[in-house]
Amino acid sequence: MSILQAVRGTRDLLPPETALWNHIEATARRVFERYSFGEIRTPVFEETQLFARGVGEETDIVSKEMYTFTPTGEQSLTLRPENTAGVVRAYIEHQMGETGQLQKLYYIGPQFRRERPQRGRYRQFYQIGAEVIGPPSAGSESPLRDAEVLEMLASMLNELGIHGWKLLINSVGSANDRTRYTQVLRAALEPVAPRMCTDCQRRAVTNPLRVLDCKHPEDQPIIAALPRIWDSLDEGSKEHFAAVCSALDACGVAYTHEHRLVRGLDYYTRTTFEFVYDDPSEGGLGSQNALLGGGRYDGLSEAIGGPKAPGIGFAMGEDRLVLTLEAQSKRAASLAAAYIAPLGDRTNPAALALAKDLRGNGLRIELGDGSFRLKKSFEMGNKIARTIVILGEDEVASGILTVKNFATGVQTKVPRPELAAFLTSTETSN
Ligand code: HAM
Repeated sequence: MSILQAVRGTRDLLPPETALWNHIEATARRVFERYSFGEIRTPVFEETQLFARGVGEETDIVSKEMYTFTPTGEQSLTLRPENTAGVVRAYIEHQMGETGQLQKLYYIGPQFRRERPQRGRYRQFYQIGAEVIGPPSAGSESPLRDAEVLEMLASMLNELGIHGWKLLINSVGSANDRTRYTQVLRAALEPVAPRMCTDCQRRAVTNPLRVLDCKHPEDQPIIAALPRIWDSLDEGSKEHFAAVCSALDACGVAYTHEHRLVRGLDYYTRTTFEFVYDDPSEGGLGSQNALLGGGRYDGLSEAIGGPKAPGIGFAMGEDRLVLTLEAQSKRAASLAAAYIAPLGDRTNPAALALAKDLRGNGLRIELGDGSFRLKKSFEMGNKIARTIVILGEDEVASGILTVKNFATGVQTKVPRPELAAFLTSTETSN
């Protein structure tokens, strides 16, 4: 008899790894609590129509990746490929908008997509997500909601101990902007579509925006030359985006405006975003580097038959958080506490004396060489140590050293007698 195994793209989660999963979920719940989110649990399967109308017929998710089945005598059902459509269905079904309040709902649970499995991409995967939704009178369209969600995510990733993430944001505009852009895109695609893959050829006609999701390497130069969505946005959408950015600036959350970020689901309007993580040691996510994604969906409720209920939300890939944390802790364990970078050969003796002292305090230290340029020292240090300690003649004279933490990017001035304690504390916090 053949041995039965977990189905391709699914896997068992076993101890001790499950402890990390529980830790991530407990941390997320703690953060959600602080921001006044309550938990929602929706069914794992829904009517197929919900995803066709909500996520969009022409998206990869709906057109290729859904697990759909029709039990005898019943309508077509689908294992949820994502949770936003289900949450908005529940919002409508339970008339949650009648309260006149913003609904702030979070969920943790499995989702199902028939994608080609690889590291960080599974057919049953887990999302930790949240949605902020309500009638416009409750302030659901405010750019401050977008910025608050993004600031919460930055805090959550930091609290989980994930360092080195990058926030990419964009605006895909209002429904009107999208219609305008679709026309521009359709016209731009007409002459080039015959040279693109068959999916793009079809989408150029049926849903041009989805051409931008294409992953075929040969199509990328054509896609890169297409008009930008930003040029089709009206003043209202541009102001909304600017307001999100200035609120992020006010709380020190760094971001990059990524013009091509349209995200592969049809319901998005205005703000879209992803938090990505590029692993320096390449032990983590590889090409599946989106830790989470989300955006605003001001027309979704109406698209599935509900009242006007603008909203914004996100979903984090829990599997990817686990992989990232595991890779980071493995990497951290293999790194020295500090790389000492003498600036110029004259500081070499002082650098050796400093290394001796720190090693005497039980710290693992790598010592560079004064003939290296600063850039080379940074590159070397980043590969083998958690921090770099810069030792120039000024530092030797003043006894105040500059320490940069590679994971957080934070640079700190530390008096020499306190350096060992400082480096020991970074060992435990990273
Ligand atoms: P999504 O970008 O399709 O958005 O998925 C969100 C995150 O789920 C991704 O960034 C990734 O981390 C994870 N993910 C997606 N597919 C897989 C997979 N096959 N294996 C492992 N992880 C995966 C949504 O699902 C939207 N519902 C997010 C949202 C909420 N937008 C507004 N509200």
